[in-house]
Amino acid sequence: MAILITGGAGFIGSHTCVELLNKGYDIIVVDNFSNSKPESLKRVCEITGKIIKIYQVDLLNRDLFEKVFIENKIDAVIHFAGLKAVGESVDYPLKYFKNNIASTIILCELMQKYKVKKLVFSSSATVYGMPESVPISEDFPLQALNPYGRTKLMIEAILQDLYISDNEWSISILRYFNPIGAHESGEIGEDPCGIPNNLLPYITKVAVGELKELQVFGKDYPTIDGTGVRDYIHVVDLAHGHVLALDKTLKASGVNIYNLGTGKGYSVLEVLSAFESTTGVNIPFKITQPRPGDAAVCYADPSKAENELNWTAKRSINDMCRDSWRWQSQNPNGYKKKQEIENPHLEQSEDFLIQNK
Ligand code: UD1
Repeated sequence: MAILITGGAGFIGSHTCVELLNKGYDIIVVDNFSNSKPESLKRVCEITGKIIKIYQVDLLNRDLFEKVFIENKIDAVIHFAGLKAVGESVDYPLKYFKNNIASTIILCELMQKYKVKKLVFSSSATVYGMPESVPISEDFPLQALNPYGRTKLMIEAILQDLYISDNEWSISILRYFNPIGAHESGEIGEDPCGIPNNLLPYITKVAVGELKELQVFGKDYPTIDGTGVRDYIHVVDLAHGHVLALDKTLKASGVNIYNLGTGKGYSVLEVLSAFESTTGVNIPFKITQPRPGDAAVCYADPSKAENELNWTAKRSINDMCRDSWRWQSQNPNGYKKKQEIENPHLEQSEDFLIQNK
């Protein structure tokens, strides 16, 4: 059974590739590597001892993307590809609408044309905006606070309309809470471009000495210690969630939406303390102004995924901190190779990529 993974070289995509390969699926990855490195997929192959067919193709390039459907018999798609930086989406909304929405439409058109009507879509808890209460269940009101969030909301709506127009589609929409951690080998992990926006990558960059101190955004939220509370989930648990959602998508039809979170919230200071106690590394920090658009508390009610997919997150916050740190300390420069660090303009040539012309 062959699964097409768009954006498979990214943080969640690469971990999901490992779990799918371990389950015996064949996978084909399509990635433009705008925000990721082919090296992550090389390492996925090393971890699993399996081979992946990898296309360096931009989803917006319909003709090249179509060749992937012509050259392969695809049974289902997991769609990760998309831009995800909130601040950047405010500055460049059109870039976000084009990249995230237009590419999803092209993907769905090709899936329709080649009669591949099984899709798992990578959505986000960002679609709940500022939740009025917690825990958040899938039927909560939806709201976008920025263009990035709007792309997720719009794609969710497009997929639901697609199913209404053609009941042969089977679609799972997965709303992730805060994925952190890394594969326990320390070989793959999160590798953000530039200064990280998210908490854990920022902490690990401070730990490795690349950044001076963490800024804790706000201390007057109505939470246990005044700092923001989030539902952090280990990326390997999240990857398992994709495998189970895919199994269900292959068997069923309809649109099913699932929260993937642990159901437990931790404050920024609790995460800091878990990181320091599991790794033994001290993280200097200072309290600063709250970040505009941040909710005080956000955590999932994951019971629907538990009941319908038989999925629960198993790994603890300490596991998440330990694994994030193992990845970052083993790879202080992420996937960058020594030659690239010495000469940042060096073009990487990777002969294992399929470059359709
Ligand atoms: C952010 C995005 C959200 C996206 C999610 C996953 C914003 C406003 N929200 O969510 O749309 O879906 O990432 O990629 O950007 N924090 C600090 N210092 C930091 C970084 C974060 O104190 O340097 C705090 C935040 O205020 C928050 C918590 O840590 O309370 C988690 O922040 P973050 O990792 O950015 O995730 P979200 O805010 O949940």
